[in-house]
Amino acid sequence: MAEPDPSLVDPNLFDKVVNLCKRRGFVFPSAEIYGGFRSTYDYGPIGVLLLRNVKEAWWRSMVQLRHDVVGLDAAILGPPQIWEASGHLANFTDPLVDCTNCQSRWRLDKLDDPNTCPNCGAVGKFTEPRAFNLMFKTHAGPVEDSGAVAYLRPETAQGMFINFSNVLNTSRKKPPFGIAQIGKSFRNEITPGNFVFRTREFEQMEMEFFVPPEDAQHWYEYWCATRLQWYLDHGMPAEQIRLRPHDADELSHYSSGTSDVEYLYPWGWDELEGIANRGNFDLTAHSNASGEKLDYFDQATNERYIPHVIEPAAGATRTAMAFLMAAYHETEVRGEKRTVLRFHPRIAPYKAAILPLSKKAELTGPATELFRTLANHFMCDYDETQSIGKRYARQDELGTPFCITYDFDSVDDQAVTVRDRDTMEQERVPVAGLVEYLAARLV
Ligand code: GAP
Repeated sequence: MAEPDPSLVDPNLFDKVVNLCKRRGFVFPSAEIYGGFRSTYDYGPIGVLLLRNVKEAWWRSMVQLRHDVVGLDAAILGPPQIWEASGHLANFTDPLVDCTNCQSRWRLDKLDDPNTCPNCGAVGKFTEPRAFNLMFKTHAGPVEDSGAVAYLRPETAQGMFINFSNVLNTSRKKPPFGIAQIGKSFRNEITPGNFVFRTREFEQMEMEFFVPPEDAQHWYEYWCATRLQWYLDHGMPAEQIRLRPHDADELSHYSSGTSDVEYLYPWGWDELEGIANRGNFDLTAHSNASGEKLDYFDQATNERYIPHVIEPAAGATRTAMAFLMAAYHETEVRGEKRTVLRFHPRIAPYKAAILPLSKKAELTGPATELFRTLANHFMCDYDETQSIGKRYARQDELGTPFCITYDFDSVDDQAVTVRDRDTMEQERVPVAGLVEYLAARLV
C-alpha cells in the first residue's frame, strides 16, 4: 500500500499516537501484566470517554435525530443456525498461507507479493492457501458436545435481520425504516494489527435500512452521501476522507453494490466504514432457514414483498482511532513544542477542565463547587496538581476544548479565565453565565 504524502500525514504519526494513547490513558495493551494478549486492547479513563462519544455521536445522528430508525441491542452469542443461514459458516473465510521456511502465517489477499514471505524473504515457499473461518466458536452450557455449539457474532447485523418481524410488529414503522445497533463483534483475524485498526474483539455501529426493492438504489446513494458527511461534520479533514466504490471482484457474497468510506491512515487509504446494498439476501435466507415469513405487506398497494436492505456498517473502535489521528497536531509556541488534539467538541473526551490556580482551600473549595455545577451538564476534569502550564499541556493532549482557571481574583469578582484549546485565547467569564457560555461553544 502506498504511503501517504508526508505533507498530509506525518510519517511518524502512527508511533506518536500509539505513544500518546499509552501515556495519557487512552488505550492500554490488554493483559499487560501477564505479558500482553495479542491484538486485544483496553480503553483507559480517557479512551473510554472518546469511544463513548464516537458511539453517542453515531447514535445521535442515526437514531435520535431520525423518526425512521429505531435501536436494538441483540445477543452476542448465537446458535449455528443463524450463521448457517447468513452464509458465515460457509463463506466468512480468509485465505491462509504458511511459509514453509520460517513457519509464519499470512493472509494471502493482504500480501504485497503473494510469492514472497514478508518475514524471512523466502520466495515460492508458501503452502497452498486454505480457507480459514474467522468465527469464534464456543459451547453454551456445561456439556461440550455438538448440540451445545454457539458462536460469538462476527458482526452485529444478523441481530437486526432475525429481529425484523419483532421490530416491525412493535415499532409501528414501515419501509423505508431502519434498525440500528452498536456492540462488540469478534473475528479470529489471521493478521490483526495497526494498533486498534484490526483486532479480534472490536465494536461496530451498524444500521440495516429496509426499503421497497424499487427504491434500493436511491437509498444506497443517500446513505453513501449521508455517512461521508457524518465524518466531515465531526471534524475529519476533507482531504483525508473519501468514498470508494468496490470493484465487482471485491463484493461480498450478499452485496450488489458496496462503497467504503476510507480514511488516509499513516499507511495509506484504508477502510473506515462500508455501505452495502444487500438486496433481500438476508431476510430471504433467514426466512428460508427458520420457516418464518420475513416480509412486509403494504396495505396501500395490496402488495407483499421482502424488503431490500441498505447497510452502513462502521467500526466504533476503528473510527475512534481515526478521529485520534486526525485530531493530532504539533505546533510550536514560544519556542516549545505543543501537542494538541483538535477533536470536534462532540468527540472530545472532556469538554472542560477546572483548574484552581493554587491548592489553597480558598480556591479549591469554590473550584470543586464549580466542577460539580459544570459536571451536571458536561463531562469535566478537575486537576489541582502541578503548574498551570503543565496542566494546560496535559489538557491539550487530551483534546479538552476549554480550560477554566479559578484564581485569587475569582473569589472577589466571581469570574474565571476560560482558555480556548484551538486559539489559546483567554477570556474572563462570569461564573453565573459559564454553563451557557460553554453550551454555546460545544455544539
Ligand atoms: N455487516 C457488515 C460488516 O460487518 P465489515 O466491512 O466486515 O462489514 C464493518 O465491517 C466495519 O467494522 C469495518 O468497516 C470496520 O470499521 C469494522 N471492522 C471490521 N473488522 C474489524 C476488525 N477486525 N477490527 C476492528 N474493526 C473492524
